[in-house]
Amino acid sequence: MRTQVAIIGGGPAGLLLSHILHRSDIDCVVLERRSREYVLRRIRAGVLEWGSVEVLRAAGVGDRMDREGHLHDGTGIVWSGSRHCLIDTKKFTGKPMMAYGQTAITEDLYAARDAMGGVVIDEVDDVGIHDIDGDTPFVTFRKNGDEQRIDCDYVAGCDGFRGISRRTIPQDIIRIYEKEYPFGWLGIMSETPPLDEIVYANHPRGFALASQRNPMLSRYYIQCELDADLKDWPDDRFWDELKARFPTEMADRIVTGPSIEKSIAPLRSFVAEPMSYGRLHLAGDSAHIVPPTGAKGLNLAISDVHYLSSALIALYRDGDAKLLEQYSATALKRVWGAARLSWYLTTLLHRFPDQGPFDLRMQEDELEYLARSESAMRNLCEQYVGLPF
Ligand code: APR
Ligand code: PHB
Repeated sequence: MRTQVAIIGGGPAGLLLSHILHRSDIDCVVLERRSREYVLRRIRAGVLEWGSVEVLRAAGVGDRMDREGHLHDGTGIVWSGSRHCLIDTKKFTGKPMMAYGQTAITEDLYAARDAMGGVVIDEVDDVGIHDIDGDTPFVTFRKNGDEQRIDCDYVAGCDGFRGISRRTIPQDIIRIYEKEYPFGWLGIMSETPPLDEIVYANHPRGFALASQRNPMLSRYYIQCELDADLKDWPDDRFWDELKARFPTEMADRIVTGPSIEKSIAPLRSFVAEPMSYGRLHLAGDSAHIVPPTGAKGLNLAISDVHYLSSALIALYRDGDAKLLEQYSATALKRVWGAARLSWYLTTLLHRFPDQGPFDLRMQEDELEYLARSESAMRNLCEQYVGLPF
């Protein structure tokens, strides 16, 4: 086969990139290791920055999001029993946040790909990326046991944290920045009406988060030990622990029910530089991972795709390679801003094993400062809503 851009990975980044390129008449093929059903069973993020909303709308995949998504003025923080503030992005930046699940976005992207006859080859094995430091890169893979080859101009590495693209960049070129947090998030999905607001809780028993997917689908998380075992967390114990971490009036409003999904995820900060090497360009989790405390993971994947698709369109339509040459530096500027915001909120809202009374007073004073200072809250809001592209 021959194509202009071979895209490794059919998650949000790979599917969105392929759709935007196809709409600009740029040939591309998506190679996905898993089945479509497997990809669509993933439960991941749920809050979109306004920039992400606009990218999805511009790509023609925003209709269902606009119908079923839920706008919020911001995200709340509760602490010390009854203290509460709102990261009020609407008030301080004029932009709301959009609650709309990544699973729904992936469904919408697959539907849009199908409607345009986009080429998404799933259940491929042994993808190999070759000659990216030359002018004639190619990708190999196996499908139903048959060895295949795609000659291309560029390879987009959208294969996530455990993919092969990042690993194709030579060890003496790539620089890794990594921080692992000493806890995880235990997440639950239940077919129950969620709270009206999305709220983070800083509590002596640990962090908690109340979120949502739709009027009858709630998403909740509690900070847990890194070695926590799902077997030790029956639904009743989860609900009791979650309620214990919210103020009573809020906890009393939480509608419990059987979990339809329950999982534990470790928290890490990870950035790989550069995001480009020769004809290979990384986008999304293949290049960076942020702790979910700022809901930045999916939004960073979308902003990478915004930059990379714009650069490839400028190249193929206008013969202008400048944006592509600058892609890594441009994307990384925004990646580091989101990595810092996610680290800041994770440090502010969680209990760390080595924290002493002084550290806890630092958290408390920072939260009180955010609650009383409009300039402090404006500063946080402009980062939380998403830095301009
Ligand atoms: N060959 C082909 N496909 C691969 C390979 C491979 N060697 N390795 C991984 N993949 C596929 C995975 O099966 C997955 O579907 O690449 C896709 C990567 O998708 P994501 O991990 O969802 O990453 P991305 O598209 O960047 O989206 C980032 O997803 O994980 C969340 O929190 C993250 O919300 C963020 C978003
Ligand atoms: C979610 O709804 O899954 C969610 C919301 C806000 C976050 C992280 C996750 O910061």
